[in-house]
Amino acid sequence: MMDSVLSDRANRRILVTSALPYANGQIHLGHMLEYVQTDIWVRFQRMRGHECYFVCADDAHGTPIMLKAEQDGVTPAELIARVRIEHERDFDRFLVSFDNYHSTHSEENRHYSELIYNRLKAKGHISRRTIRQLYDTEKQMFLPDRFVKGTCPHCSAEDQYGDNCEVCGNTYSPAELINPRSVVSGSAPVERESEQLFFKLENFREFLSGWLDGGHTQKEIANKQKELFKEELLEWDISRNAPYWGFEIPGEQDKYFYVWLDAPIGYLASFRNHCDRSGLDFDEFFDPDSDCELYHFIGKDIARFHTLFWPAELHGADFRTPTAVWAHGFLTVNGQKMSKSRGTFITAATYLRHLNPEYLRYYFAAKLDDTIDDLDLNLEDFRVRVNTELVGKLVNIASRCAGFITRTFDGQLGRSLPEPEMFGEFSRAADEIAAAYESRLYSKAMRLIMQLADRTNQYIDAEKPWILVKQDDTRNRVQEVCTQGLNLFRLLMIYLKPILPETARGTEAFLDIGELRWDDRLEPLLDHRIKAFKPLVTRVEEERIDRIVEESKDSTREKPTGKADREPLAEEIGIDDFFKVDLRVARIVDAAHVEGADKLIQLTVDLGDETRTIFSGIKSAYDPSTLAGRLTVVVANLAPRKMRFGVSEGMVLCAGSGDRELYLLEPDSGARPGMRIT
Ligand code: 2FM
Ligand code: ZN
Repeated sequence: MMDSVLSDRANRRILVTSALPYANGQIHLGHMLEYVQTDIWVRFQRMRGHECYFVCADDAHGTPIMLKAEQDGVTPAELIARVRIEHERDFDRFLVSFDNYHSTHSEENRHYSELIYNRLKAKGHISRRTIRQLYDTEKQMFLPDRFVKGTCPHCSAEDQYGDNCEVCGNTYSPAELINPRSVVSGSAPVERESEQLFFKLENFREFLSGWLDGGHTQKEIANKQKELFKEELLEWDISRNAPYWGFEIPGEQDKYFYVWLDAPIGYLASFRNHCDRSGLDFDEFFDPDSDCELYHFIGKDIARFHTLFWPAELHGADFRTPTAVWAHGFLTVNGQKMSKSRGTFITAATYLRHLNPEYLRYYFAAKLDDTIDDLDLNLEDFRVRVNTELVGKLVNIASRCAGFITRTFDGQLGRSLPEPEMFGEFSRAADEIAAAYESRLYSKAMRLIMQLADRTNQYIDAEKPWILVKQDDTRNRVQEVCTQGLNLFRLLMIYLKPILPETARGTEAFLDIGELRWDDRLEPLLDHRIKAFKPLVTRVEEERIDRIVEESKDSTREKPTGKADREPLAEEIGIDDFFKVDLRVARIVDAAHVEGADKLIQLTVDLGDETRTIFSGIKSAYDPSTLAGRLTVVVANLAPRKMRFGVSEGMVLCAGSGDRELYLLEPDSGARPGMRIT
């Protein structure tokens, strides 16, 4: 349908959003499924040369945020400011490439919320009437459905929310609960009347019916909404009484926009903020006749807001409507709903403390498609799959070939490919892979790519460069075979770049080429000198997953999101403890292999006034010949340690999380040996 028509267009202008996360909690892996799904699609579009913007924001209004701030002893503004920092940090570390991250508590959002409301009102799409709602007399506030609990009127299950029963699944209004009580104060709520404002959805019956039939969302989602069309479409209550944390409704007294009114408008607000800072023309994207594309990626639980209220609001207020709203299913872990007691309610921050984000990006991609089916993160399957496919199949190709090219041919790739037809076939596979990406059939794209990886490994296995290299008459053949292997690897990395942007960056560095683009698949890389290969992805150790589960059991207990919320990355120490460590800038003057040691390099370092010997376990990541002359950071007051190979007089500092993923720290230019690090 529309996907294939649009994907054929050159120079598409595309705006993409993911749902806005609430500003009162941490990002967890359930959230990440959506941001990763969206980010892959966005990166794919950009690689293909399209103009593609990706915006998001914190969803910063509503009663839960107001009450959470109160509970934490901070103002709502303080709460949302600090949560935003955490959210942005998590997204950044998961390599989610937003062009802009904003907040619904912003001037742009106030502007568009008022504008849309005023336009809808002027056209007669807003009504007002008095309704009865539950009211907490102690707290002096009206209670949202989720803030009332009581006994289910259908099955008598206790402690059920005011909107539906988790035991029997029936829905009801909070007033129907038996023995209702306010979650906020514990008191029994009373019914109280107040006037509210409503959006007249029924006015958009014909428009919405056409929109839902127009292929703008998945069939299951459209059909579900269409069931409502059998009866008059209910008016939607868009106002809330004070006290409320949000925007006041213009022309009203003590009335605020309901959070779900201004939340999707936050998409416009974030994009507007981006336009103002980048010089883009907002109207070109949001005029009713815009030929730019607009996509919202969402979870299936919020489909009604995005496929009924939202297109109707936009249409009614003379803005363009979404090209498509794509919903995905929920994330389960080990086959079940994420659970704090099982340690499977995993926050993004906890995951990132132990594992590379690209592992999860890959695993999600390997299982994602265009349906709203739930996706299971089976932790054992995750480990095995990453190790077998990413490390065993993919990166293995590069490590098998690069060593020969570097050691035997001085890094030089051959002048031609021994199997040009095979390269052509791999290159032509791009169309099918691209079609799969475009349609969000990432699992299909991964299958196709991994089949190509298998074929590449089979090719190398059949050619056996490790045997060819031993004989003079076949040695030159090794250069050809490895040139072929590395060229096929390069194609695979082009195809995987939307999913593995960091590994792609590492590939670009080791192949010593510019940013890989989709069109680079057309020409092989020949007669070119590559750099030394460094491991691009390391194995997932079972122990790290165990640690994540263990920490998730402890760390996800409800915590204040106020001042003391930061999860310590490690045991806290005082500044005095820190000052006990004497960190110095050092210049590596010499680096040598250590006879009989697998992991060690013997470094001679200049500390300004003295020269020392340090045995450092960085051999898996560094070739000693590349180290001499580099500046680094050394712990200078570490007691000398006697080792089998000699005495080590300090320690060099590296970033990294394992034996093979190690990055030597280096001070900024200008630093000199011996300088103290403070
Ligand atoms: O369900 C949620 O998490 C909402 N905060 C999503 C809002 S999406 C958009 F409409 F703002
Ligand atoms: Zn029930």
